[in-house]
Amino acid sequence: MARVFITGSSDGLGRMAAQLLIEQGHRAVLHARNERRGREALAAVPGAETVVIGDLTSIAQTRGVADQVNRLGSFDGVIHNAGVGYREPRRIATEDGLPHVFAVNTLAPYILTALIQRPKRLVYLSSALHQRGDTSLKDLAWKNRPWQGQQAYSDSKLHDVLLAFAVARCWPDVLSNAVEPGWVATKMGGPGAPDDLQAGHVTQVWLVTSDDPAATVTGQYFYHQRLRTPNPASRSVELQEKLLDACKHFSGIDIPK
Ligand SMILES: NC(=O)c1ccc[n+]([C@@H]2O[C@H](COP(=O)([O-])OP(=O)(O)OC[C@H]3O[C@@H](n4cnc5c(N)ncnc54)[C@H](OP(=O)(O)O)[C@@H]3O)[C@@H](O)[C@H]2O)c1
Repeated sequence: MARVFITGSSDGLGRMAAQLLIEQGHRAVLHARNERRGREALAAVPGAETVVIGDLTSIAQTRGVADQVNRLGSFDGVIHNAGVGYREPRRIATEDGLPHVFAVNTLAPYILTALIQRPKRLVYLSSALHQRGDTSLKDLAWKNRPWQGQQAYSDSKLHDVLLAFAVARCWPDVLSNAVEPGWVATKMGGPGAPDDLQAGHVTQVWLVTSDDPAATVTGQYFYHQRLRTPNPASRSVELQEKLLDACKHFSGIDIPK
């Protein structure tokens, strides 16, 4: 039996992953942006241990999420699932002055990875769109270029792969992988999404719980429980370090190596 923390589990794939974990006899701790969403998450996932509250657009609240998780004790796995902004029409600035998409999709998983007591396994939700991510990592705050919502989302999903692979490299005792769930009909994916929703959460759960040799690997990129080739730039140690440095710069938080 594993104990797993899932970010963004008030809806979509995060909620489905929590439900599947509980169905399989594991323990799931949920996460929601505020108290109301927290109550709704607990009502939707009977059997969940508890819910942790914090809005990932805020660095201070994201630190608070890590504190709450650490107070709950140790975890076997963390699924960094929360995500936003597939096509935000303009640069939405957070209270820290960062683009909303970057704050939630890139910086929050970095901060939580750095501050949550190290679990045995980590899973980061990416997307096929990461293949189109900007591999220069220039202007991550979108201050010097015109806003392009889909590009910002694609960039953030490349960052998730870079983060997963950086952690796999720096923490050899932890299994750290990235997952492409497919384009599925959640709130983010929209009603017309063509991929199989019922397969969208299965790989994450398998990677954090299974003893299958195919699941007990690290530094890999998966789609529907199969290895898939990620953007080759994600294998660059230089690029991984550049992202870690940038996240440290924006958050003031260092990742222990
Ligand atoms: N759906 C797809 O087609 C697709 C494809 C590729 C990758 N992905 C990735 O899969 C992951 C899950 O996506 P999904 O489709 O399940 O999306 P979703 O249905 O929109 O769910 C996103 C979850 O993240 C939470 N969240 C968003 N912003 C937050 C914030 N500031 N603070 C705290 N929680 C926040 C949401 O909370 P609320 O419910 O309160 O909004 C919700 O629980 C994302 O990382 C996404 O990039 C999805």
